[in-house]
Amino acid sequence: MNTRKLLISLLLIVALLPSAGLTGAQETSFSLRGFASRNGIYMGAAAWTYHLDDPALAEILAREFNMLTPEHEAKWCMVSTGPGEYDFSRVDRLVKFAEENNMVIHGHTLVWHSCSPDWVENAEWSRDEAIEVLREHITTVVERYKGRVMYWDVVNEAFDGGDMRDTAWLRMIGEDYVELAFQFAHEADPDALLLYNDYGNESMGEKSDAVYDMAQDFLARGVPIHGIGMQGHFTLGSINYGSIASNMQRLGELGLEVQFTEVDVKYLGEADNEIMTEQARTYYKLMELCLDAETCSAFIVWGVADKYTWLRNVSFFDNPTVDPLLFGDDYKPKLAYYVLISLLAERAGATPLYDADKIASILGEPDAGMESDLPTPTKSDPNQLAPDSVPGVAVYAPMGVSITLDGDLSDWENIPRVLVNTGTMPGDGETYFEFAVVVDDTNLYYMANVTDPNVIYGEHDPGTWYETDSVEFYLNTTGDLEASSYVPGIVQVGILAENAISPDAPLVGGGNSGDAQVSIATVETDTGYVIEASVPLVNDVWEIVPEHLGVLGFQTHLNGSSSNSRDTKLIWSAADTQDQSWNNPSLFGQLVFWDTTQ
Ligand code: XIL
Repeated sequence: MNTRKLLISLLLIVALLPSAGLTGAQETSFSLRGFASRNGIYMGAAAWTYHLDDPALAEILAREFNMLTPEHEAKWCMVSTGPGEYDFSRVDRLVKFAEENNMVIHGHTLVWHSCSPDWVENAEWSRDEAIEVLREHITTVVERYKGRVMYWDVVNEAFDGGDMRDTAWLRMIGEDYVELAFQFAHEADPDALLLYNDYGNESMGEKSDAVYDMAQDFLARGVPIHGIGMQGHFTLGSINYGSIASNMQRLGELGLEVQFTEVDVKYLGEADNEIMTEQARTYYKLMELCLDAETCSAFIVWGVADKYTWLRNVSFFDNPTVDPLLFGDDYKPKLAYYVLISLLAERAGATPLYDADKIASILGEPDAGMESDLPTPTKSDPNQLAPDSVPGVAVYAPMGVSITLDGDLSDWENIPRVLVNTGTMPGDGETYFEFAVVVDDTNLYYMANVTDPNVIYGEHDPGTWYETDSVEFYLNTTGDLEASSYVPGIVQVGILAENAISPDAPLVGGGNSGDAQVSIATVETDTGYVIEASVPLVNDVWEIVPEHLGVLGFQTHLNGSSSNSRDTKLIWSAADTQDQSWNNPSLFGQLVFWDTTQ
């Protein structure tokens, strides 16, 4: 247990002593909050005042959660009644409820583009005037609840992808409005813990890189920031847990706390048992991430009961019957609740409601080495020998298919092909490729059919082979899909188009590429070129034993050039938004073996 987690546990123990003079609800041990505190984390929920008017809801809130986030009513557009004027009555009520029930308060949020009062949104102030308004607001709110709000989401959603979002504050003040906001909050309550909060910053990628860089810079310059909130508005089947773990880890290494601040798990269509089981598995795996991350201090759900979720509002999500939370419309705990409380209890050393075997039987035991977060496989054409790929995430490789390396693609019939036409340098749109992977008893075969109107031959420099027309495929055979460096068993193999005219041209490049013992055939086509490659399943470094639904890490790229340097970079794995696979194999997607007799 890290220091923060230990501290939270100790504080809760002290708070529970009768001498602490509590008037409200006591910690009931059999509750999410009871077991969460024994794991050194807070279990939070977002709430509105109208939830407190619903006695059944209020009872669950106080019983199961020890952190409360005002879902909407503390935001600027909600508390403002005019310039410099406020109505805090609803926030006061939420704070009072939390204090009476021995819950800590997670303040949300001081600055958010989506909820600024109109008089702010439409203002045209000078930089100094705007800074004064920002200071006045933050100081008023934070001082009012000084010593009572443990965490503040100081700025919410300031990034749009990897860039600063275009907001009134960015326009009037400039990029430093974010650090000014943190400074004002810190001056108003030096003990409050200050978070930057966003969505889409959960896994590795453009936005989380930008947030990481900002936090690192703040820390280096002494700007008071204590943690990063990851909202966690997730959609079933599209979560890369390994990538979230890597991101949490790097933030933790900066010395920052991390929290899941607004978790819900949505899906399209009507819920059935399968969807609710998948949802429970998702909550379980997300909680595991928080418990496993040294500095994760809270897991907050964005509401208590499905009936009040913001996602049923069709302006936010296209499913008015969605059930994304832990308690149903009838207030009954859902499967997700039972698996979460069991996980928390087990990790606390208590007797879990469901033990590991029971959880495995409910959630289904994932195959060894397999990530269990893929959607149910489907075939868009019944003749396909394997399911459709999950775009940017997983490609299915049919087993028992042998390929002759001759550049003739007829032996790839009925193998689903994956189109790749996006990347960090999408080029002119006329260059793209399709790839597929199959496996037999001795080899893994890879095929790329490249459309490129302008293939350059004879100009490559071995040191910068990736600057010229070439295809790359990457394999991680280690079973550790989260590995973030090129240990033995992880390879990047770059193959030049030039092999088509000069068969002796070297197979080139990439980390550990020699280990793969690749054989290739490369041929020119009317529209570009084709590469077929085979890699032995057993070599000096690895032994790949294909099993139905077994997984390898896999990635593929295309480099295109029309002159001496690269002007096109296409990337398959969605996790690799920065062209970093050559450096970090945790950004690969998955290659899933498929038994064609299934
Ligand atoms: C949402 C609330 O849930 C809604 O009820 C309200 O109408 C709009 O705001 N990210 C955030 C939250 O940081 O503040 C948002 O909350 C949901 C998305």
